[in-house]
Amino acid sequence: MSAAAETPLDELDVITPDSFEQNGYPHEAWARLRRESPIHYFGDAELPFWAITKHADITAISKQPDLFLNGPRLFVHPTANNQANDFNESAEFERPPTLIEMDNPKHRAYRKIISSRFTPAALKKIHSEVDRIARKFVDDMLEEGEGEVDFVEKIAAPLPIAVIGWLLGVPEPDWPQLYDWTNRMIGFDDPEFNPSAMDPEENEGFKALVELFTYFSQLVEERKQKPQDDLITLFSHAEVDGERLPPLDVLSWCQIIVGAGNETTRNGTSGGMLALIEHPDERRKMEDPANLRTGIEEILRWTNPVIHFARTCAEDTVYEGRAMKKGDTLALYYPSANRDEDVFDEPYRFDVTRKPNRHLAFGVGEHFCAGAHVARLELEMAYKYLLPRLEEVELAGDPDRLRSNLIGGIKRLPIRFKARKV
Ligand code: HEM
Repeated sequence: MSAAAETPLDELDVITPDSFEQNGYPHEAWARLRRESPIHYFGDAELPFWAITKHADITAISKQPDLFLNGPRLFVHPTANNQANDFNESAEFERPPTLIEMDNPKHRAYRKIISSRFTPAALKKIHSEVDRIARKFVDDMLEEGEGEVDFVEKIAAPLPIAVIGWLLGVPEPDWPQLYDWTNRMIGFDDPEFNPSAMDPEENEGFKALVELFTYFSQLVEERKQKPQDDLITLFSHAEVDGERLPPLDVLSWCQIIVGAGNETTRNGTSGGMLALIEHPDERRKMEDPANLRTGIEEILRWTNPVIHFARTCAEDTVYEGRAMKKGDTLALYYPSANRDEDVFDEPYRFDVTRKPNRHLAFGVGEHFCAGAHVARLELEMAYKYLLPRLEEVELAGDPDRLRSNLIGGIKRLPIRFKARKV
């Protein structure tokens, strides 16, 4: 019997960044919670929270946005100490909430600003550019015919940076800066990106945020004078109730697109490669273009880059017989929902032909990922060019995981490959 099967439920670790870094996703612990206590209160945690692990509950809770709020807390910190170091809550700097931290009525009004830009119809316009960008990175990696590379460095990281940089309208020479800011903002729990995590004065996440705001302020001013066909222009000119957005809200828009659009897609892409290396038969099946789309959905279900987002109870309530108090925090574990035996046949089988596949990698309900179409397009283009050209591919070392309980990050993925001649 494994450790997770014997441990008392209250001692299961589904929250510490160390555990995610060292062991990856705690699927065994989540499976036990789904079976034995799907709405489980970790009352002894330094910051107590409800762990929500079933697909049906995550869906039901996400669809009651006025009772289960996205603000003020986007994720569950494992310790009070980390809470104090959250760059989002720095006393020096009043940062307005980003879209994902907003609640109604503001959320609905602000969400409309981006909706028109990320519909499937509008995406047709960006299709060719994403295709070009993905093809270039794949060509660059396979140019030598064979070799050992870090897949994150060659494809998984630069692809979403280029797409987001291009969509926003950031000049190409500045794209590496977007990469650095994302790493420091999302990797605030990882000493590689935030060496002084215990000292709020030195918090790299916060410093990165200030740099990002300063940088985008200038681009916003430029776009106000000279509009272009890009997201910075969209945000700079957007109106709610006939009024332009306050300047800090415009910058918050830039922040959420940089923050939400990079690391997530990066880890979907690298996690996908890892899954395909571990399942070579599925990799070969996915070379067939007929299986590309279902394969991408399965990669999203399997890798599930966002580990959890939090909700806060707006008032005392009883959900499924459990009494929750106003201000209680809930952690919605999307990767657990995506292994839910009540929804998926053989949930622990990686199957690139899986259909239906009602995964929750992009969330569900009011805050469903605004960039889901963009992310799907990026993954599709990357694997469309990669798969037919990879004769052989294997791991050349262990994946190096991010220390985070928010994003299932792979910092480095060393692979060895041999390209097929086409
Ligand atoms: C594989 C890649 C991605 C994954 C797994 C992912 C995951 C998610 C999830 C789970 C949420 C829901 C949050 C909630 O319900 O509280 C979300 C929201 C969001 N995502 Fe993504 N995302 C990805 C890519 C992107 C991209 C490429 C963009 C931008 C171009 C983006 C922008 C956003 C925004 C703006 C929100 C907030 C939506 C709202 O609050 O209404 N995401 N994402």
